[in-house]
Amino acid sequence: MRFFGGKECHALIQRNSHRSIVHGLRISGARISTVKPAFNSDFTVFEPITLRDIQERCDHDHTINLVVITSPTYEGLAADIHGIAQYCLVKGIKLVVDGAHSSVFPFAPELYPPSGIGMEGVDLVVQSLHKGAGSLTQASIVHLNKTSKKSAKMLENALYVSTTTSPSSLILLSIEETIQSNFKDEVAKKRIHDTVKRAKELRE
Ligand SMILES: Cc1ncc(COP(=O)(O)O)c(C=O)c1O
Repeated sequence: MRFFGGKECHALIQRNSHRSIVHGLRISGARISTVKPAFNSDFTVFEPITLRDIQERCDHDHTINLVVITSPTYEGLAADIHGIAQYCLVKGIKLVVDGAHSSVFPFAPELYPPSGIGMEGVDLVVQSLHKGAGSLTQASIVHLNKTSKKSAKMLENALYVSTTTSPSSLILLSIEETIQSNFKDEVAKKRIHDTVKRAKELRE
């Protein structure tokens, strides 16, 4: 968040964003506005943020230059990242996706909704491999999309400010292992496919 924030930044974030987003932006000196997603009282959960929610705010306040969305939500509800990304692209607004809970999405893209990785209009996706994908705790990863105007070098420099100079070999190894095994191991792939299929059947 400090990477995208700063005094020139006016960020629109969800009212129910994770506190790390608020803290990072605050430290950076960014101005923060919030948008509240709809609440589903039948299931007592917040819905994912919608394109309309974002449009309503950004069309009326042209100083907003960063949007941060959470997709999927903690409960697994995914936003229309593509629609929001297209809108942000046209408006020249940077878009960050908090995909803390989407870490298994890239392992079965035909079954899961898009995570935003590699999607035009999305600048950055953050994922927590320890949430659902099986890595050791703190195995979070950032994906800087090639279409972003921000460079990998800038991101690296920003990370230096807030990360340890003694990274954990165990966590790095567990990140590698999780990615390798889920992408390459046929048994793991089948397990993910079967689990998602069974969840879909259950829902239907
Ligand atoms: C939506 C969301 N974003 C960010 C985070 C922070 O992730 P981490 O604990 O991996 O730093 C969490 C953690 O629960 C989360 O639920």
